Amino acid sequence: AETGCLSIIVLGASGDLAKKKTFPALFHLYCQGFLPPNEVHIFGYARTKISDDELRNRIRGYLLGERSSSPSEDVSEFLKLVKYVSGSYDSAEGFQLLDKEIAMHEISKSSQEVSSRRLFYLALPPSVYPSVCRMIRKYCMNESDLGGWTRVVVEKPFGKDLDSAELLSSQIGELFDEPQIYRIDHYLGKELVQNLLVLRFANRFFLPLWNRDNIDNVQVVFREDFGTEGRGGYFDEYGIIRDIIQNHLLQVFCLVAMEKPVSLKPEHIRDEKVKVLQSVLPIKDEEVVLGQYEGYRDDPTVPDYSNTPTFATVILRIHNERWEGVPFILKAGKALNSRKAEIRVQFKDVPGDIFKCEKQGRNEFVIRLQPSEAMYMKLTVKQPGLEMSTVQSELDLSYKQRYQGVTIPKAYERLILDTIRGDQQHFVRRDELKAAWEIFTPLLHRIDNGEMKPTPYQQGSRGPTEADELSAKASYVQTHGYIWALPPYR
Ligand code: BG6
Repeated sequence: AETGCLSIIVLGASGDLAKKKTFPALFHLYCQGFLPPNEVHIFGYARTKISDDELRNRIRGYLLGERSSSPSEDVSEFLKLVKYVSGSYDSAEGFQLLDKEIAMHEISKSSQEVSSRRLFYLALPPSVYPSVCRMIRKYCMNESDLGGWTRVVVEKPFGKDLDSAELLSSQIGELFDEPQIYRIDHYLGKELVQNLLVLRFANRFFLPLWNRDNIDNVQVVFREDFGTEGRGGYFDEYGIIRDIIQNHLLQVFCLVAMEKPVSLKPEHIRDEKVKVLQSVLPIKDEEVVLGQYEGYRDDPTVPDYSNTPTFATVILRIHNERWEGVPFILKAGKALNSRKAEIRVQFKDVPGDIFKCEKQGRNEFVIRLQPSEAMYMKLTVKQPGLEMSTVQSELDLSYKQRYQGVTIPKAYERLILDTIRGDQQHFVRRDELKAAWEIFTPLLHRIDNGEMKPTPYQQGSRGPTEADELSAKASYVQTHGYIWALPPYR
């Protein structure tokens, strides 16, 4: 592993993302020994003029997150590594000062000159990415003769449509090379998303079945049981397709649908993702259902006439040998009746079924990304007992039960560690991003122009009934009377 000084600079340090995700992830990495105090320094940068201690106080309460296993000494030790620099996002002074602070820390950490690693995390709105990147490029690059690197991490939204995304990409691309740019999609850091390639390509079970001959339809579903709470201003500009589907669900879609990569090298994996995205056919209007929850417009930051969807079901179809004719149903919604994210791979009916007298449920392979990570295969078995009747059951791998005592790392934790290690496998490449925008841009423009309108739905419901009708039309069959129960956690 590389050694030498590591400076992590969180730009937008007083914002929501930094407080809730970035600093807690850094803290957990610190607790696990990945950020050794003799090498690492963390800088917060933002416009507000506050002191180091004020920044520390602002983030302190968020560090532990839901996990309270770390002792409070860890919190204070970690906070000692955090410094604050204030400045604007487009002026030389701030960034010159930042560079000076970083350099000072690099010298103070060791008596002789060492290599320098500089990680800039842009927890900022994309409107300032170009100017911030320009400033970093001009004033804050690692220039140590002894090696090291400078990397920038950027967060979605990467633009609003194909053109704006391409513009942003080329602006950043003029300043940094692709290996220096880490486009984060935190769904790629989730345990079961990272498991997808292993599952698909290391198991003989799945190889012969994973195609149009056996699979009837695939669903990738994201549900949240709360609305846009406090983020209405941001959300209304983007909507559920840009917020969740075009990035998070599409990434999951890629990993489910792509061909086997030549190897596990990041470029090989990303090559396959691009290919499958390029094989997606244009979305048809009749394969889209949009919804907006009632009360969404009551948010003072949302305009009264807002046409922004908070729910969408979109069917993607892949034009290739493996998937021709198989609908991929991507569905996401806010303010629904539950919170979960899962992949459902539904198999075709058994041909020549001899158990026809009772309608059999279909085989379905479910990968529950959250909460309570699990994989289960719904299958038909003989009802135990004297009668010869059948019943739906499951082969179940629930992580809480199977991996007791194992802490599943948070997505951001894992991804930030990847950026330090220089592994881009779980980050979005520029051509991948372009292909993703190409799929959704025509639909998004039609919504933006008011040519398609969301159907109102009740908060706490399943979303518009049209969405269930669309899934049924796409041949998804719900198994009635079967409910998977989370196995007891012994
Ligand atoms: C973010 C979206 O990218 O993902 C949010 O902007 C959403 O709207 C969040 O709530 C969901 O992430 P997770 O990890 O809680 O499923």
